[in-house]
Amino acid sequence: MVTHDVIVVGAGVTGLTAAWRLAEAGRDVLVLEARDRVGGRLRTDTADAAGAPASFEIGGQWVSPDQDALLGLLDELGLATYPRHREGDSVYVGRDGVARRFAEDLPVPAATAAAITELTKRLDALAAAMDPARPWELPDAGHLDGISLRSWLEEQCDDAEARDNIALYLGPAMLTKPAHAFSALQAVQMAASAGSFSNLLDADVILDRRVVGGLQSVPLELARRLGDRVRLGQDVTRVEWSDGGVVVHVGDVRYAARRLVLAVPPTVVRRVRFDPELPAEHRIAREHQSFGLVVKVQAMYSTPFWREAGLDGTAFGPYELVHEAYDNTPEGESRGVLVGFVSDVNADAVGALDAEERRTRVLDSLAVYYGEPARHPLAYVESDWQHQELTGGAYGTSFDLGGLTRWGQVLRQPVGPIEFGSSDVAGLGFQHVDGAVRVGTDLAEGIVAGR
Ligand code: FDA
Repeated sequence: MVTHDVIVVGAGVTGLTAAWRLAEAGRDVLVLEARDRVGGRLRTDTADAAGAPASFEIGGQWVSPDQDALLGLLDELGLATYPRHREGDSVYVGRDGVARRFAEDLPVPAATAAAITELTKRLDALAAAMDPARPWELPDAGHLDGISLRSWLEEQCDDAEARDNIALYLGPAMLTKPAHAFSALQAVQMAASAGSFSNLLDADVILDRRVVGGLQSVPLELARRLGDRVRLGQDVTRVEWSDGGVVVHVGDVRYAARRLVLAVPPTVVRRVRFDPELPAEHRIAREHQSFGLVVKVQAMYSTPFWREAGLDGTAFGPYELVHEAYDNTPEGESRGVLVGFVSDVNADAVGALDAEERRTRVLDSLAVYYGEPARHPLAYVESDWQHQELTGGAYGTSFDLGGLTRWGQVLRQPVGPIEFGSSDVAGLGFQHVDGAVRVGTDLAEGIVAGR
């Protein structure tokens, strides 16, 4: 059996970035991917739109200007980007269920607007004081990790619509869990990982650009460069390890290496049996992690009809089934595409419906923002990550109450020759492709440096 320098398990952006950097440094690296494709949570599907095929990004797609690790990699790989359409008014639906257009200021009562500004200031201050890679070091981390974001917001503010708007950006829109299900500390880490809470509020920052050909072009290009060092259909189910190296099992086939990088979400590590077993804290830490859940829905229309009505396509409402939606028309496409998101408890609810009823409910919600034409798409596509054992939800994983201070440090600790990483354990770029690039780069640099 050949002994490689490093085996990387998982051909998402984390694993492929690590593998490519190791290969560049002259290491003999082998990537084992369980699926029959590379990219993990980045995937482009084709669907029929009234007789003409159209491409849809089912997983991650947006790039923001502060994501310099990803932007640097895009440059290096020669991948071009284009901006999201943003001319026109946006739409907000508040507690009364009425759709209101706005250009600058959110159309809410003055007291609610002031409360949102104040909460934003407080969250920005907490995020600025935090190193997102070490959130447990924030003064008051213990208290903030022991209360849910919902309770923290109730402590800070008595305006319900202000609280619900802030919770929307951190819960449904980011961690994709209800605000009672994760700690205030986890929420601050989410904000700190994006540079500030204000960045998360600003669609022109966080949803700035897309990649020509789709964000999946990143793993595809990395895999092309790695060539036959990437093997598909290799579901790793068993790892024997000692200080000297690993033997990795895929069915009856075994591969050996001096080091192993498990570039899979923390919740998926448990699919692998380790011999000897991982130290107990490694299992327990990952048991306190779970995937959020969001269904990404895309509807294609014969034209981007909302633009003719002077709308930029950006729409949101904390009380709507589709809590946020955007113009998602690819560059150069004459047909119009809207993307919307149904998150956490709403995702549970629509998940219990049959496909036709779910589509009707989602299109009804889009019609609240964009009017009757939204009910009549040429094509309608839903993401399916919750049904895939090799992922398990969307967008990423986060801790339960108290988990971040108790177990956060364990997720990046190596065990013997085994390293762990994915965008779910990133500091900057947490839960984003930028974080996957950062973690993959760190892992490779550590191995090359002999750490
Ligand atoms: P990822 O999960 O992608 O890769 C892990 C790989 O390991 C997978 O290919 C899996 O098959 C493989 N694997 C698992 N177990 C294995 C085993 N035992 N043996 C072999 N292989 C195994 N981000 C962003 O920056 N902008 C955005 O707009 C969005 N939007 C978004 C929407 C949706 C719907 C989703 C699901 C996600 C996003 N994201 C995003 C998040 C982004 O997609 C995500 O953070 C990264 O793609 C994660 O990359 P990783 O390589 O870390 O994990």
